[in-house]
Amino acid sequence: MPYSALSPNDLNAFWMPFTANRAFKAAPRMVSRAKDMHYYTPEGRALIDGISGLWCANAGHSREPIVEAIQKQAGVLDYLPPFQFGHPAAFTLANRIADLAPGDLDHVFFVNSGSEAVDTALKIALTYHHGRGEGQRLRFIGRERGYHGVGFGGISVGGMVANRKTFGPGLPADHLPSTYNRDQQAFTKGEPEWGAHLADELERIVALHDASTIAGLIVEPMAGSTGVLPPPQGYLKRLRALCDKHGLLLIFDEVITGFGRLGTPFAAERFDVVPDMITFAKGVNSGTVPMGGVLVRKGIYDSCMKGPDHAVELFHGYTYSAHPLAVAAAHAALDLYRDEELFDNARDLEPVLADAVHGLKGLPNVLDIRSIGLAAAIDLAPIAGAPGKRGFDAMNSAFHDHDILVRIAGDSIVLAPSLIVTTEQIGEIVEKTARVIKSIA
Ligand SMILES: Cc1ncc(COP(=O)(O)O)c(C=O)c1O
Repeated sequence: MPYSALSPNDLNAFWMPFTANRAFKAAPRMVSRAKDMHYYTPEGRALIDGISGLWCANAGHSREPIVEAIQKQAGVLDYLPPFQFGHPAAFTLANRIADLAPGDLDHVFFVNSGSEAVDTALKIALTYHHGRGEGQRLRFIGRERGYHGVGFGGISVGGMVANRKTFGPGLPADHLPSTYNRDQQAFTKGEPEWGAHLADELERIVALHDASTIAGLIVEPMAGSTGVLPPPQGYLKRLRALCDKHGLLLIFDEVITGFGRLGTPFAAERFDVVPDMITFAKGVNSGTVPMGGVLVRKGIYDSCMKGPDHAVELFHGYTYSAHPLAVAAAHAALDLYRDEELFDNARDLEPVLADAVHGLKGLPNVLDIRSIGLAAAIDLAPIAGAPGKRGFDAMNSAFHDHDILVRIAGDSIVLAPSLIVTTEQIGEIVEKTARVIKSIA
């Protein structure tokens, strides 16, 4: 590898996404290699990966079967147009993913990211209603603190203020309240007992706009990006019942929870709720090649399959939908999930992570700790007048001084190790996190 790839001498040209660019370029956090549970800096220092890259390397990093599948595919079929042409592996992949999904979520529309998956699901919902003569159903309901990517559809239904405020009004949307209440829920493992009644806010929103104008509701079954908010017990079932009552499609955004994060293939299974669509990305191929998709119930797909046989049914798609490299990587990742029983590993290790991370209670500035599946968040008290600064300090301290990569959400530290993690590695991750919290107190 040329030296310049390991150690660039000018960081200016790359405008980094969701990054404090000036701070990064003054003190870079550079990574040049990854294997299994570890990242390596250009100097060769190993960091344990506490967040599966960005919630995506569910099978761990640079796994040989996935690497080989991508390499092989590049030499056999590098690309084909996904519009009007197909390659066999994309169809078998759609079947495999549909088999993992609950109920009659039998159809898969492939895209290249979580953001594209969300915007695609919203478009399918609009097309479905339009085709049934209910084209006035144009509004979506999301939730405060929800994250649905960065497309204009996704930020309209999303509830993270910073991601919305400079980008205009977007799609017509309204928002359920966040399910989080620290007074009622602090230091809960798994689903909090308090909060199912917040689903009933949907009734108020439906009354305000009239059900006949609302296309659907999109929620993350577990809100991830905002800092791991497991749903209150019974909450998602109530949402399902209310959507049925008012003819709203229910979309679960499982970009984070899909592919085993909560110990089941999709969170829908864990919470025993069948939504009308599921968006996925990240874990589908362990984060190796950009890919996402939307799982769609049979009835929705069937109702869209109309018009003359030669006519396109849905005017939507991407040049790289079902890209052969992404498909090959996904087959290899699904093989690993199955052969190494990684979803079971996530389920088995949930109490190990929960016990370890809840042991951080009492450390300086710790206000709350939440955990579910292989995901956890630790809320730290903000520094007065500088929201987000303590979280930023934690990420820097973790990377530079404690050999661990963590994710921050504001002043929360988020942990979500790969599903290959061991009990010992969970211990190491949490122990290093404890040292980080103390070092920035
Ligand atoms: C629930 C959810 N939806 C959508 C997205 C957007 O995915 P992407 O960054 O691949 O566009 C994310 C990313 O973290 C997510 O967590």
